[in-house]
Amino acid sequence: MREIRLNIVRNEDLSYSVFICSSEWGSVLNKVVSSIKPTSVAIVTDTIVSKLHLRSIVSYLPEGINYVTVEIPAGEKYKTRKMKEYIEDKMLKFGVDRKGLVIAFGGGVVGDIGGFVAATYMRGIPFIQVPTTLLSMIDSSIGGKVAVDTPYGKNMIGSFYQPKAVVINVDFLKTLPSEQIKNGLAEVIKHAIIADKNFFDFLLENRNDILELVNDKLEELIEVGCSIKKKVVESDEKESGLRKILNFGHTVGHAIESVSNYKILHGFAVSVGMVIEAQVSNKIGILPKEDLEKIKEILSLYGLPTSLRELKLKPRIISDMVRFMRSDKKSISGEIHMSLPKRIGEMIDSFSLPVEESLILSVFRDQFI
Ligand SMILES: NC(=O)c1ccc[n+]([C@@H]2O[C@H](COP(=O)([O-])OP(=O)(O)OC[C@H]3O[C@@H](n4cnc5c(N)ncnc54)[C@H](O)[C@@H]3O)[C@@H](O)[C@H]2O)c1
Repeated sequence: MREIRLNIVRNEDLSYSVFICSSEWGSVLNKVVSSIKPTSVAIVTDTIVSKLHLRSIVSYLPEGINYVTVEIPAGEKYKTRKMKEYIEDKMLKFGVDRKGLVIAFGGGVVGDIGGFVAATYMRGIPFIQVPTTLLSMIDSSIGGKVAVDTPYGKNMIGSFYQPKAVVINVDFLKTLPSEQIKNGLAEVIKHAIIADKNFFDFLLENRNDILELVNDKLEELIEVGCSIKKKVVESDEKESGLRKILNFGHTVGHAIESVSNYKILHGFAVSVGMVIEAQVSNKIGILPKEDLEKIKEILSLYGLPTSLRELKLKPRIISDMVRFMRSDKKSISGEIHMSLPKRIGEMIDSFSLPVEESLILSVFRDQFI
């Protein structure tokens, strides 16, 4: 088992551990839950994860504990305020009180909505993240951003609310469809590009083992990936500066998701977003050409797309993408901002920069040549 400690001390100590386990995960979970001494437990999960792994998690809860399982349908479209209410009502009906515990058991959707329920239920009760997708293991379960989507945009209603612990079992990845593995790998590669050249080389060298889900390599990958997110989150819990570097590939990635009506998986959109933003960085003389080529190479090696054409998008979507980026949360006074890499493993010192629309348009057009 590997353990990473996140040190978050604000007005109170919000520090917690991320446990990266395989066969021993059940006993770790049992200890973590026992140490919180909850009056009852609400396991928030989705229908797919429930079918595959609910029996396992239940068998590791402390003996005799009162628990309720709240299942939501799987998928982003259920990360809504309505579904949050549904979960809360189930918990209220069961009698979960202020000393109760939420276990968010699933991918990023369940983590975000389950965490948000915990943040507001009786003004806040403890919660644990038990992530089951690669994306949630290295990204969404860490950092305390919890939210639901609205018709006006994704993650528009939410909070910063830290879990008491994150318990990862890499064996859960064995049941995850390969598209979802790739979806998470895009964020893993992003972590390497923004902060760690050695990690980038590790990902290049160990591609076969990683794609074959060899436990040792997965644990190492998750440990380094989480450590990178830890460093960023510790120094900037509420996204005022350094945390912006996590947005690399996301200014364009979010626009791609939006114009595809969220049919393109997040990681695939971010993969192309990273290439485009790296091209922008190269065009304004920041990122060397050689590093740009390496970024494209690693994404291709992991079976991720590197152009808008590969995503089967048509040139006519360009204007919609620019419009989206102008009104996105990351823009400032309508000016498009991007977090750009300086070289592999390092981002620009100011974390993000305003970028001229004419430059973005020319990079977009090049994507279709
Ligand atoms: N809070 C944050 O900091 C943060 C960061 C990044 C992304 N997110 C959010 O995360 C969400 C995406 O997360 P995701 O990619 O994990 O999607 P997801 O939760 O929708 O999971 C993807 C699919 O995999 C299934 N699944 C989960 N675990 C499985 C397993 N072990 N075996 C088989 N199937 C399994 C799910 O049922 C679902 O159908 C988005 O809502 C995004 O906004 C949040």
